[in-house]
Amino acid sequence: MKRLCCAIVGCGGIAQRHGQVLQGLEVAQLLACADILPERAQALREKYCEPSARAYPSLEELLDQEEIDVLHICTPHYLHVPMAQAAASRGVHVFMEKPPVIDLGQWEALQALQGQVRVGVCFQNRYNPSVAFCRKLLAEGKPGKILGARAFVTWHREAPYYVESGWRGFLDTEGGGVLINQAVHTLDLLTQFLGHGRVLGASLANRHLQRLIEVEDTLEATLDFSGVRALFYATTAYCQDAPVLVELACEHGVLRIEGEEVTVHWEDGSLYRKDFAQEERIDGKDYWGNSHRRCIEAFYHSVLSGEPFPNDIPGVADTAELMLEVYAAARKDCTPRS
Ligand SMILES: NC(=O)c1ccc[n+]([C@@H]2O[C@H](COP(=O)([O-])OP(=O)(O)OC[C@H]3O[C@@H](n4cnc5c(N)ncnc54)[C@H](O)[C@@H]3O)[C@@H](O)[C@H]2O)c1
Repeated sequence: MKRLCCAIVGCGGIAQRHGQVLQGLEVAQLLACADILPERAQALREKYCEPSARAYPSLEELLDQEEIDVLHICTPHYLHVPMAQAAASRGVHVFMEKPPVIDLGQWEALQALQGQVRVGVCFQNRYNPSVAFCRKLLAEGKPGKILGARAFVTWHREAPYYVESGWRGFLDTEGGGVLINQAVHTLDLLTQFLGHGRVLGASLANRHLQRLIEVEDTLEATLDFSGVRALFYATTAYCQDAPVLVELACEHGVLRIEGEEVTVHWEDGSLYRKDFAQEERIDGKDYWGNSHRRCIEAFYHSVLSGEPFPNDIPGVADTAELMLEVYAAARKDCTPRS
């Protein structure tokens, strides 16, 4: 069996999930990792890498010294594209964390990598069983056409989450706030169900941590997907992480995904309800779910087989472009108060 040699750059929070998944993935060998904080790289090496693996203080040194097939990019947002470029220039495939880009210039640079190496973006919620169920139900036709949608992300983030990271909360390193960091997954699900979208109107605000962060903690947008209107609201100013809600109002029923629970209210009054979370043991934070594993496995199998990967650069274009368009519209009309 062919095994792909891989490495992780950025050994903070989400890198642990990548390490855990790669450790259990037969077709991968985690041979190196890098972080500007050497103790983080060392800790990840010891916990998840092959015994002979090495830890590096920079991506440049890792790429100079190692022969790898796949680089996992788990660094702050602004570094995703430059690190993808560095890997691609050496023929190394890239599996990058979301968001794929923080601005239009980066989006153009990322698109230029298309065809050079395989690039996968970790929009893992596409692989959630609840989402797969709704996708199948819609494809089978029983709900009929989607007439409208709404999506709500109401989560809780306090000052230490921003301050301790050193990169969250700043426009030049995070690129934005609740939309680019937390709710981009939900925007991605809307594009999965509805396709290419455009912005009818958007606004953003900082309602909770005004003097601490320069990015938005609250954002709303009205979106149009070829005549289907979607209402989108995201905030990290709520008191807790409520389950994300995505609702699709269809001709013959209303499909609602709330966390991993799906309910379908059919037009005849009958109700279908299923909680997909009860079917599997979650081996990460519960709101991360198990879909990192599904998404990473799918990427490796696509690299090995040559099959297309759904979350490749063209596959995330609708989401990346809509996210940038929402920010452009919202920033034109409002500046967060400080
Ligand atoms: N897909 C998801 O659900 C999900 C969940 C959490 C985080 N993420 C994404 O993962 C990325 C990292 O988030 P996190 O929460 O792990 O952040 P983090 O701050 O915990 O980790 C980032 C790590 O990158 C390191 N780093 C910074 N600059 C570096 C450089 N130049 N070279 C090497 N290492 C460098 C930091 O020292 C830190 O250890 C973000 O883009 C975030 O949006 C995705």
